[in-house]
Amino acid sequence: MSEVQELHFSRRSAVLAGLAAGAGALLGARARAAPPKSEVITKAIPSTGEKLPIIGLGTDRFRDSDQDTVTAEIRRMQSLGGTVIDTAAAYGDSEALIGQALTPQLRDRMFLATKLTASGSDYFGRGLAGTASFERSLTLLKTQRVDLLQVHNLDGVDQLLPQLQQWKQAGRIRYIGITTSRVSQHEQMLGFMRRLPLDFIQVDYSIDNRDAARSVLPLAAERRLAVLANIPFGFGAVLRQAQTRKLPAWAADIDVTSWGQFLLKYVVSHPAVTCAIPGSTQVAHLEDNQGAARGRLPDAAMRSRMEQFWDSGQA
Ligand SMILES: NC(=O)c1ccc[n+]([C@@H]2O[C@H](COP(=O)([O-])OP(=O)(O)OC[C@H]3O[C@@H](n4cnc5c(N)ncnc54)[C@H](OP(=O)(O)O)[C@@H]3O)[C@@H](O)[C@H]2O)c1
Repeated sequence: MSEVQELHFSRRSAVLAGLAAGAGALLGARARAAPPKSEVITKAIPSTGEKLPIIGLGTDRFRDSDQDTVTAEIRRMQSLGGTVIDTAAAYGDSEALIGQALTPQLRDRMFLATKLTASGSDYFGRGLAGTASFERSLTLLKTQRVDLLQVHNLDGVDQLLPQLQQWKQAGRIRYIGITTSRVSQHEQMLGFMRRLPLDFIQVDYSIDNRDAARSVLPLAAERRLAVLANIPFGFGAVLRQAQTRKLPAWAADIDVTSWGQFLLKYVVSHPAVTCAIPGSTQVAHLEDNQGAARGRLPDAAMRSRMEQFWDSGQA
């Protein structure tokens, strides 16, 4: 399918989805005025006001994918209005596959985030450190600059920050961030958030892992930091658990048609979360996930209802 055809397809799907959502809204007991389904919901990066679509794409799993799959996913995401791609020097061939998939035109439409560490070691002890890592990322991603450069797993934050600030001033990166995906690192992350000039944090947050909402997310809001929410499906385990249960009928009130969308709308409706980055290596999964960027989002009361339902374990 050409890009033009994809766009046409996406518009037609959006219109059909909008009609379906409209009908659902009329029938729903808790129905409120629905925004047009054709519009992708965005949230602003606090430090600049630049808006990002609320559902992006995590690419750790691209390390096991082939070029055709990665190219198809990125093109499909673009046709559906998504822009945020999160990768890392440590994600195997992910950066190279993304770089190969991005035409110059497509690259300009994407918000590219990658990561580096000071030690250069990922979980498997591979990779390069600091400057060498960043230069390699630019080469593999075939770009002159990345939108967001993050210190991976808080490895060398103080050591790397002056260099990141220099690259930001030189226009080689647009935003600075730090990441974790472990509750055991949240306390350490809070310390960095309190004293460093960051634009972004990336943290683990899902309906089954709400620790970040106790302290990391409130501090992000206070410090006006954008938040990427990683592992929104608990590395897939939360979604698999969810899929053994029946999606509640009231999920239609927030324009949710799948468990993936239920879990993502919960995450991105937290006021401090800017964008969720679910990982997917299947186009059908990506399409499902991008559906969570449209329609109604849960309000505070609905978020409580979602939590209660999840915690009840009700089948
Ligand atoms: N410290 C850090 O900085 C850090 C750590 C971990 C992760 N991350 C970032 O967060 C991203 C997300 O993490 P993750 O990919 O490990 O875990 P995840 O997003 O919680 O879950 C991904 C899993 O869910 C499946 N999936 C996705 N959408 C689905 C759908 N609609 N229906 C059914 N299954 C679906 C995927 O299957 P398929 O692959 O078959 O589509 C995959 O098995 C990573 O890619 C990475 O960018 C950052």
